[in-house]
Amino acid sequence: MSQPLPTPLHRSRSHESAVGHVTGKARYVDDLPEPPGLLHAAVVPSSTAKGRIVSRSAEAARAVPGVLGVFFADDIPGTNRIGPIVHDEPLLAEDTVSFHGQALALVVAETREAARAAAAKVVVTVEAETPLLDFDQAIEQGSFTTDAHVIARGDVEAALDGSHLVIEAEARVGYQDHFYLETHGALAVPNEGGVHITSSTQHPTEVQREAARILGLPAAAVVCQVSRLGGGFGGKESQASPYACMAALAAHKLDRPVKLVLKRHEDMAWTGNRHAFLGKYRAGFDADGRFVGFAVHIYSQGGWSTDLSGAVMDRALFHLDNAYRIPALRFEGRVVRTNLPSNTAFRGFGGPQGVAVVEDAMERAAAALGIDPVELRRRNYYEEGDACPYGQVLSEVRLQRIHDELVASSDYTARRAAIDAFNAGSRWVKRGIGFSPVKFGISFTASLLNQAGALVLVYSDGSVQLNHGGTEMGQGLYTKMLAVAADTLGVELDRVRHMPTATDKVPNTSATAASSGTDLNGAAVRAACETVRERMRPVAADMLGCAPDAVRFADGACHGPSGSVPFADVANLCWVKQISLSSTGYYATPGIAYDPKAGRGTPFFYFAYGAALTEVEVDARTGQHGVRRVDILHDVGDSLVPSIDRGQVEGAYVQGLGWLTVEEVIYDDAGRMVTHGPSTYKIPAVGDVPPEFYVNLLDEAPQPGVIGGSKAVGEPPFLHAFSAVAALRHAIGAYGDGAVELSLPATHEAVLRAVEAVKRG
Ligand code: MTE
Ligand code: HPA
Repeated sequence: MSQPLPTPLHRSRSHESAVGHVTGKARYVDDLPEPPGLLHAAVVPSSTAKGRIVSRSAEAARAVPGVLGVFFADDIPGTNRIGPIVHDEPLLAEDTVSFHGQALALVVAETREAARAAAAKVVVTVEAETPLLDFDQAIEQGSFTTDAHVIARGDVEAALDGSHLVIEAEARVGYQDHFYLETHGALAVPNEGGVHITSSTQHPTEVQREAARILGLPAAAVVCQVSRLGGGFGGKESQASPYACMAALAAHKLDRPVKLVLKRHEDMAWTGNRHAFLGKYRAGFDADGRFVGFAVHIYSQGGWSTDLSGAVMDRALFHLDNAYRIPALRFEGRVVRTNLPSNTAFRGFGGPQGVAVVEDAMERAAAALGIDPVELRRRNYYEEGDACPYGQVLSEVRLQRIHDELVASSDYTARRAAIDAFNAGSRWVKRGIGFSPVKFGISFTASLLNQAGALVLVYSDGSVQLNHGGTEMGQGLYTKMLAVAADTLGVELDRVRHMPTATDKVPNTSATAASSGTDLNGAAVRAACETVRERMRPVAADMLGCAPDAVRFADGACHGPSGSVPFADVANLCWVKQISLSSTGYYATPGIAYDPKAGRGTPFFYFAYGAALTEVEVDARTGQHGVRRVDILHDVGDSLVPSIDRGQVEGAYVQGLGWLTVEEVIYDDAGRMVTHGPSTYKIPAVGDVPPEFYVNLLDEAPQPGVIGGSKAVGEPPFLHAFSAVAALRHAIGAYGDGAVELSLPATHEAVLRAVEAVKRG
């Protein structure tokens, strides 16, 4: 019954909101037309990182003209507990505060200004206690949010004892702020006892569930709708919910629409970052540079609550091997609890933090053994039929192919020799070239989340409305879903209208995360469209005077052996003949399961592969560095929309480059974020985009069992930025004989320190 996907119909299509993005017509939460009677909410944040609440007073705040309500924890009609996995976060603080910026109260007023002015007048007295802020100190004190998750294979101690080379080191990676363009925000409108919430969330179902808990309502009384997000990058997977719940609480209590939108500095200071990680490892290699054993303890800076930290840690552990076969290993990971904002999902979801450890080992091993780091990596690649540390057996491994194609197309060998020659003749400025491969597991690691639904409505004029559970945050999901629907029904793209994602259209959805938006929702959309199409088929066959099997749906028509009829005419006749033209579709990824207690299973449906080569230049006088050229070969299977996928690869690389070489989140001794705006927190700018940037998608690489033979693309290319770190290490190493000790992020200051150390020898 299935028609092959994709047809070339959509091959060069641009993003469905491209014009809206550049003209400003694309609407975000704060751009929506304001409903009559709209009120505005403001949060009262804690100015203490840890302590006991001794008193609260809202008198002065209530006296501010225009103020209609001040709400504390006691005013919550349902349960004052939210959280994506463990409900351990009070929406409004109860007896204690656990981090600087925690919401203590909510103020609602006629204007945004009045709400903010009144919020500043709420008095909450806190008896301050000494906060636990330092990562290492928290580890020493045994302050953990999760039990240890262990993945082990073979006798790692014996393997390390027998190794030719053992490297014992620590690898640290820092936080990263999501810095999406649209800050957290929500608009809640009361609706005859229920509430309708428009939220900038990657997870409408979670907003629905959490708001229902807070209000003490059934989920059916709450609708969450999302037209688009101005970026999410994981930061709106779990952490959009508190602000949506606050807007819903106020709307429900006051029976008027309420909007809550955070300012940039509030968003940065109060919400979580990418987790900082510490990896302590011993890596054993034989004389040829082959991995023998790898013993790793990793710790993540979880912050004050559980949030998604356990799952982020799981994915970090699953990626400690990156692309490499390791015979004996023991990986152990624990989430550390501190009095800082709760860290959360961020593109890669722990995967990059895991890879940072093994790539550190690779670079050090190459230097110690005198083997070209590119060659050392090649010797260690997984091959067909190898098993990952957790037991999943690999098939369709594309590492060697990608390696060979990229090394050839980038002219690596000649360029490395040219760079070494350049460095020999240049005192202050040195260049470096670095390589990194990636193997990234695709699926939510919590297997049950790998499901999606869709709802497709065909009207009697042949036009189509498309609904599914995924959210659009700029990544192009809607563009791809339109292509899938148009292809499956055989209609022109402009006949399909993408509806806002909403929980009253598709229930019980997963977050749009784990890069799986297209895989999951695409399969559900296709299933829904196929159901409608197959109902239309006999009607079309009658009109065409042919057998149903002979009808082909394409280009806005139904084609038979000896003629065609417009799709719209078939749709109209179906209506006349009382045939349903709407259907749901559902998909659950088959065959994946993982047992965390045993550290064994098949957590991923498949893996995405790729490799990158980056060339950098460093100036020893300032530590200043820049990327000169990047070559990436990335595996997106048979791309559904290549222009979108290429954009994802480019954007992910630059975002990864930001994390590893530019961005630095700093908290002061009181647990207050210092870098809470663009003046103190630098992200890559247009000028940091590599001047020569060659991104190629692997040819002829369809992925069996995935929509249109495609592969997920959102997160995996983020990891290509490790090639820039390798390049910096190469350049820094050219300044002297000392070991390269480069801390991350490799800011200009960090590079300057590393150069000075190398020179000292
Ligand atoms: N691209 C843009 N432009 N904006 C985003 O917020 N998020 C990334 C990635 N690409 C993001 C993005 C993250 S973290 C993920 S998990 C995926 O998109 C989610 O979408 P997908 O599953 O549809 O790929
Ligand atoms: N990856 C990314 N995001 C997620 C995951 C995951 O495995 N689980 C929950 N959110």
